Amino acid sequence: MKSKRLSFVIVCVCNRLNENRVRDAIVSGACCSEDVYARCGVRKNCGQCQETIEEMLDQNPAAQAVAA
Ligand code: FES
Repeated sequence: MKSKRLSFVIVCVCNRLNENRVRDAIVSGACCSEDVYARCGVRKNCGQCQETIEEMLDQNPAAQAVAA
């Protein structure tokens, strides 16, 4: 059985979003950072996390296919 990698590294300090929540939003179909925020039930505040979220989106082939 393949175990899910858990990470509690905070990606978005303003909204207390950890890496797992962001990754779950991406896997469930988020195609841009605004979509990630929406799927997590939050709004972008300072925007410091946006670049990191976009990098995570770039690393996810499913998100790239949706965005194309
Ligand atoms: S760190 Fe994400 S909006 Fe501020």
